[in-house]
Amino acid sequence: MVNSIVRNKLVPSHSMANILTTIALALLLCLSAVGAKTNLNTHSRGLSPSTIIPLVGQDGICNLVVEKQGYACEEHKVTTKDGYILSLQRIPEGRSGKSPNKIPVLLQHGLLMDAVSWMINSPDESLAFILADNGFDVWLSNTRGTNYSRGHTSIKPNDPSYWDWSWDELVAYDLPATVQYVHYQTGQKLHYVGHSLGTLIALAAFSQENLLNSIRAAALLSPIAYLAQMSSTLARTAADAFIAEDLYWLGIKEFAPRGEPAVKLLQDICKQPTNNCSNLMTSFTGPNCCVNSSKTDYFLEHEPQSTATKNLIHLAQMIRQGTIAMYDYGNADENNKHYGQPTPPVYDMARIPNNLPLFLGFGGQDYLSDVDDVQTLLDTLKDHDTDKLVLQYREDYAHADFVFGENAKQVVYDPLMAFFKLQ
Ligand SMILES: *[C@@H]1O[C@H](CO)[C@@H](O)[C@H](O)[C@H]1NC(C)=O
Ligand SMILES: *[C@@H]1O[C@H](CO)[C@@H](O)[C@H](O)[C@H]1NC(C)=O
Ligand SMILES: *[C@@H]1O[C@H](CO)[C@@H](O)[C@H](O)[C@H]1NC(C)=O
Repeated sequence: MVNSIVRNKLVPSHSMANILTTIALALLLCLSAVGAKTNLNTHSRGLSPSTIIPLVGQDGICNLVVEKQGYACEEHKVTTKDGYILSLQRIPEGRSGKSPNKIPVLLQHGLLMDAVSWMINSPDESLAFILADNGFDVWLSNTRGTNYSRGHTSIKPNDPSYWDWSWDELVAYDLPATVQYVHYQTGQKLHYVGHSLGTLIALAAFSQENLLNSIRAAALLSPIAYLAQMSSTLARTAADAFIAEDLYWLGIKEFAPRGEPAVKLLQDICKQPTNNCSNLMTSFTGPNCCVNSSKTDYFLEHEPQSTATKNLIHLAQMIRQGTIAMYDYGNADENNKHYGQPTPPVYDMARIPNNLPLFLGFGGQDYLSDVDDVQTLLDTLKDHDTDKLVLQYREDYAHADFVFGENAKQVVYDPLMAFFKLQ
């Protein structure tokens, strides 16, 4: 249907109408090409986004976001086995102060986001603060390559090899490093909450029977696993573009959402008659019932964040193939070099232990986590202990509602906390 994108035919047009269209579209999806709102100087040059200055001194998510809301906060650093230095924030107590016997909860954000995404709304509406106020010891992770996790023991983000990873490496390195760190620091097994890509990496790790000694229960919001039915035509068009032009895209290394290649890609996608770009957020994620647009400016101060282009290509492969496998190097020789077999190894979701407590929150309007794909996941979990699998389905919810919905506390977080307290 949408194989017709030919990126190398894209000649930048300088007509004012096109420029305005690009800017308008980009702004709608929070992919600001102009940096209208905030200090985007490092992002707006697009082709050299790696000049972001690493976190120094006091500047971090704790003091920029958490403490401003009146919560205590600790900054932590954890180094992965492959050398990435990730920042973690801890909200050790709620506004009413200490309570005994706290259970740690780790929040893992989705694609193009970071920990701030859990704290965009008011404390009474944002999951990180709600958990803290309800007696949990809250830990927030930040994936490699995001603004506050750009350190590495030996390479810098402007080195192409810094971006040589996909979500396989998040499964193999980032997730174990953060989970084990929290387990070690607190001496307790933890609850896990993932959104979107944060669900995929957990499911993949569990399917390899990893982390199970450290995890008490996992809540997966907008689960991303099988992607064959994904109904977002915009995301499908983007996936096709990544696959058709993987050499071009692999040359980009860092996918900076505010950068020039990303904005051009969006412009291309929106030229296709099948795509309705009048509301990009809706076209990508589905009609979010409950996201209040008054938070958009604040959101844009912190998101979206960079990821590796290779990560996006990996996701595009999943959309195309409908499988959950490791990154496909595209030919038997390369795959053999990396995996010792001609095709990428598969993550077998049926191997997730049947007694692992799982809470799945999914929505009827979610264009990325399609209900049919969630059903495929549920089919593979058909032998799961019935009292260890809780489904929270909400007809009117789309992808972003699970994190930004104004009523998410009642709809999702209260049942989620009730579930955790039983485990
Ligand atoms: C595109 O989406 C907008 C808002 O979501 C809608 O009002 C409009 O009718 C749609 N256009 C087409 C051609 O589907
Ligand atoms: C959105 O948030 C603003 C500011 O908090 C509030 O005044 C407004 O009522 C909210 N809108 C809706 C539709 O709830
Ligand atoms: C990135 O971090 C710097 C330094 O702390 C901060 O000033 C800037 O606002 C951050 N940008 C984003 C997009 O998070």
